[in-house]
Amino acid sequence: MGIFDFIKGNTKIAAVIGDPIEHSISPQLHNTLSWQLGINMAYIPLRVDKAYLGKALETFKALGFIGINVTVPHKQHVIEYLDEVTEDAKLAGAVNTIEFRDGKLTGYNTDISGFVRMFKSEAGTGFRERDVVILGAGGAARGVCIGIIRDGAKRISIANRTLSRAEQLAEELNNLKKGSASACLLNSREMKKAIQHADIIINTTSVGMYPHTECNPLDEDIVFRENQIVCDLIYNPFETCLLKSARLSGCLTINGLGMLIYQGVHSFEIWNKVEVPETVVKNVLASFKNYFKIKEIQ
Ligand code: ATR
Repeated sequence: MGIFDFIKGNTKIAAVIGDPIEHSISPQLHNTLSWQLGINMAYIPLRVDKAYLGKALETFKALGFIGINVTVPHKQHVIEYLDEVTEDAKLAGAVNTIEFRDGKLTGYNTDISGFVRMFKSEAGTGFRERDVVILGAGGAARGVCIGIIRDGAKRISIANRTLSRAEQLAEELNNLKKGSASACLLNSREMKKAIQHADIIINTTSVGMYPHTECNPLDEDIVFRENQIVCDLIYNPFETCLLKSARLSGCLTINGLGMLIYQGVHSFEIWNKVEVPETVVKNVLASFKNYFKIKEIQ
């Protein structure tokens, strides 16, 4: 009989907390990275009730965890328990990664950095001087917009079902970079005009996500140009209605799986003070793409 020695006495421990947590694929991702890179770290999923959030963080600190990922519904509430929060995480009002070092808790938002790194890798280009349309104005949109502005986007048009939320987000972005953002109603004439001129269109709404896979945030009469890049943060289904219509128009399409992988990679890098080589990230992403495609067929 062999010995399973992945977890030993000196193994570093990390976790993801959320409620619910059963559907998280972060344990598969982080344990794969540890295994691929020969790093002695184990990563577990933990369901944490909101009422115990502060106590849970104290416990992780006492137990010597090296870090945790934070997912829904704790990304905002967790901030009050931290010693330090990065500028981007403050702007986003959300933390998805905590580093425990020398008794201090530092909060990061690797959704922002992960999105930009993923986009550059998958699209082969960044946001500098690009004209971008964002569908949605919630938490995911805020993170994506901050990353895009930081990367030098020329203009962001935020289209949302509730106009006031888009206006609020545009105002915050204009405070960050004057004249960078505007707001309009989802599927309005203004949005259609913005899409005509855009280089990149990004869906951050949940429209089209399983089980409502037949839904599309955009009206049927919207046509893409073949040199546009269309990105959907959804990865289940692997190809949403929006991405399918963009692909049929000849656009480069990107789903949300890469963002999930790259945000995790950045968390892993923060905790372990390593740089994960791009070839490793690409191989891991390819494995996860297969994993999800196979699951979708079943
Ligand atoms: P997240 O953190 O994932 O962004 P959120 O903050 O709840 O979640 O935001 C969800 C986004 O999806 C919002 O932009 C929401 O539009 P509203 O601000 O009008 O609520 C958008 N959304 C959700 N369901 C939608 C639907 N059926 N049609 C259009 N937009 C929808």
